[in-house]
Amino acid sequence: MSRQVLITDLTIDTGVQELLGKAEQENIETAFQRAKEQEPHCKFGLTGVCCRRCLQGPCRVTFNGNKGVKRGVCGATADQIVARNLLSLIVEGTTPHVEHAREILHTLLETAEGKAPYEIKGKEKLISIAKKLGLTVDGVEIDKLAQEVALIALQDFQQQSGVSNWLRLRAQDKSIETWKKLNILPSNAHLEIANAINKTAMGCESDPVSLLLGIMKMGLVEGYDGLHLSTDLQDILFGTPRLVKTQYRMGVIKEDYVNIAVHGHIPMVSEKVLEWSRKLNNEAKALGAKGINIVGICCSANELLMRQGVSVATNYASQELAIITGALEAMVVDAQCIMPGLAQVADCYHTELISTLPNIKIEGASHIDWTPEEADKMGEEIVRRALAHYPERDQAKVQIPGGTVEAYAGFSVEQIVELLAALNREDPLLPLIEAIAKGDILGVVAIVGCTNPKVKQDWANTEVAKELMKNNVLIVATGCSAHSLGKNGLLSPAGLEYCGAKLANVLTAIGQANGLPALPPALHMGSCVDNSRIDDLLVALADRLGVAVRELPVAGSSPENHSPKALSIGTFFIAQGVDVHIGVNAPITGSPLVEQALTANKGEFPVTTDELFGGKLIYEADPIQAAQTMIARIIQKRKALGLVC
Ligand code: SF4
Ligand code: FE2
Repeated sequence: MSRQVLITDLTIDTGVQELLGKAEQENIETAFQRAKEQEPHCKFGLTGVCCRRCLQGPCRVTFNGNKGVKRGVCGATADQIVARNLLSLIVEGTTPHVEHAREILHTLLETAEGKAPYEIKGKEKLISIAKKLGLTVDGVEIDKLAQEVALIALQDFQQQSGVSNWLRLRAQDKSIETWKKLNILPSNAHLEIANAINKTAMGCESDPVSLLLGIMKMGLVEGYDGLHLSTDLQDILFGTPRLVKTQYRMGVIKEDYVNIAVHGHIPMVSEKVLEWSRKLNNEAKALGAKGINIVGICCSANELLMRQGVSVATNYASQELAIITGALEAMVVDAQCIMPGLAQVADCYHTELISTLPNIKIEGASHIDWTPEEADKMGEEIVRRALAHYPERDQAKVQIPGGTVEAYAGFSVEQIVELLAALNREDPLLPLIEAIAKGDILGVVAIVGCTNPKVKQDWANTEVAKELMKNNVLIVATGCSAHSLGKNGLLSPAGLEYCGAKLANVLTAIGQANGLPALPPALHMGSCVDNSRIDDLLVALADRLGVAVRELPVAGSSPENHSPKALSIGTFFIAQGVDVHIGVNAPITGSPLVEQALTANKGEFPVTTDELFGGKLIYEADPIQAAQTMIARIIQKRKALGLVC
């Protein structure tokens, strides 16, 4: 197989293909290459039956029925080991989002108290949340109200009993009833995380059913004190996203500008870098550049894209390749999805890799502390360092793949409702509900999550999306999956060519009522924490229809999942009663009990998440098959609601 064929097997992004060729010529290693070097993967690890919980092990037990050792030294079975490992993995997915929420909470609190240099831009959101929390809003100053809201949020990290405030704020009553019966309502995010770690510790919980319920509880921690809390407080601080137009692909890095890439997830960092790049733009001109160009990677990209229209260079798997353009003066990272390999790549160029969060240091990177109080100092210092690196750029090493793709984003629930209001001002959700009822929209699927070098980059994400669109399924998207769709024209009205005629007509009608040629076939709803927006949309639709979320003809899909966060987000949606597809299998197949409980595939184990919650896990590597499986389930749910099929 020739080198070119091999590279085209790794990604469908032609810009990334070009840069992989450059990396090879310059002898720079990337994640794509390292992924191949790891093959074949250990089957014990892949199926979840490797236990490293104590020093009597590591123990590996049989994953294929009869052959091999059936119990670890302590007597743990495959079911017990897999369930414990999965809970541990879900905790690792949930915790970064909970920490994300805690960081924004403190930033909001300090801003309200006048200690941090941010501004409360989302006053409407603040007032609406304050009202829902039962606070008096009339005559109360904005800062005071923000402080009260932040202190209620803080209780979700402090209270020793009761139910999470953010769950009560955002969940449907019908869902709360289900979770209450199963005794999985969380109270305090930190307490639940500590409790789950305690469950998985050696010699503690070994009942796989109780461990599975622990997993579902952790999904609720993820959903409410991770995703929803982060989005709500970020909207209060930075404003609720509105429709924006932007550009995608490596071509957004500009040769004649000082380029800074923001990468990670925490908008308190990236917003400040953007703010200071605007303040110091003229200093770039003094250096002979046309200005300072901020580009995004992963969810820092999503946060700045949704609220500021900042363009997106690339998504997770190809983060190293952005540096290989040779044209980045700095890459600023905060938390989550930061490859340690970035430091090695940055070493080959003039690019300064800068970490920012006090608790997250990257070997080989320089570090400038972000704290809410010192945010301006950090922003200015980062931009000044990037300016200083511009003259060090080696023009001989610069190669930016040409071409960008237009995309629309900013589809918050508020923005979607406003767009629909152009068709029906009194009852904005009605046109959407009618389109679903008539079958013009067969259902809604959220394409979320990651890219993963185990899968051809962007391929599975876009193939699932296209197959669904062809069948008149409306797509909403977040995270790096949204970037896959954006890079391939599916966040633009031009992407309507992939839609079934009925869906295309609906999107055109809504778009034209709002002065646009059409809405894109996939609505970009934001970052990974903004999966909360998708949940809000589902709750709003279910409430308007008078049904439970579990009854809606919807599904979630993460075709190129790599992060435990994709699994914890998926768990949250399964708890809501939504089927969740993953394209890269989770390590559960070593336990028939765990696999059957989550996937509801036939087996001896009688209790499944499908029966308890109304949602299940679908593992399917083939994107077309995955789309068809989701469509079949959507049709099943439509029939149960008595809708046209
Ligand atoms: Fe082995 Fe049990 Fe220790 Fe796990 S907890 S490593 S199965 S002895
Ligand atoms: Fe993300």
